[in-house]
Amino acid sequence: MKISKRLRMIAELVPKCRLLYDVGTDHAYLPIYLVKSGKAERAVASDISSVSADKALENVVGEGLEDKIKVRCGNGLSTLSEDEKPDVILISGMGGVLTVQLLEGNKKAVSEASCLILQPQHNIETVRRYTEKIGFGITAEDFSEENGKAYFTLRCERCDVPPLSYRELALGRFLPEGRNPLFNAWLGRQILKLESKISAAYAKNPNTDITRLEETLSLYKEVYEKCQNART
Ligand SMILES: C[S@@+](CC[C@H](N)C(=O)[O-])C[C@H]1O[C@@H](n2cnc3c(N)ncnc32)[C@H](O)[C@@H]1O
Repeated sequence: MKISKRLRMIAELVPKCRLLYDVGTDHAYLPIYLVKSGKAERAVASDISSVSADKALENVVGEGLEDKIKVRCGNGLSTLSEDEKPDVILISGMGGVLTVQLLEGNKKAVSEASCLILQPQHNIETVRRYTEKIGFGITAEDFSEENGKAYFTLRCERCDVPPLSYRELALGRFLPEGRNPLFNAWLGRQILKLESKISAAYAKNPNTDITRLEETLSLYKEVYEKCQNART
């Protein structure tokens, strides 16, 4: 089965596991791919939408994987049965605030998991802060773009890592090392966008408070320069 670049980025960050729990699975592409590739022994593919769950089931049956992948319909992490203890919980394609709410919704499952794979579409800072609060360290992250949209993916594991700094909360710990050319190019474009936003805000009203924008701009410029230096 062929999956998109964005989904492949997620799959690459998933460690070998016994039970993968994919929350908001939609088509179940990821559990199917991960079970077929042998990374996940079994999976639960869960979605709040019955249309998505039906689609997921059709795909799972189509691949002959109904013994290994259970499809469930329901809210967030509420669809696990008592005896299921997923070692990896995956949530991708939802906002950061919803991602955190879903994790909060089943603290028992989260506390028993050894790894969270998260790809929030917005508010990634909220997700980074939350995972740190509940005792997960970010051990890997990746960045890619699809249809002009930026995607950050985090692998969070139970381990001791130093607390995230202001810069790491905003841009991550690994991406600012400059090894991902897509991230570097994205950052360069964000700088241009912020500069024109600041000019427009200032032109409209010279008394507008642009402190926050300027702080972000200066952080982005500092990291961008570091990325450029790392590449030379
Ligand atoms: C944009 S799709 C992402 C699908 C897939 N995870 C991916 O990354 O391609 C979001 C999916 O999350 C599901 N969803 C939204 N809120 C949910 C919730 N509270 N619990 C479970 N699934 C939810 C939607 O029905 C939809 O299928």
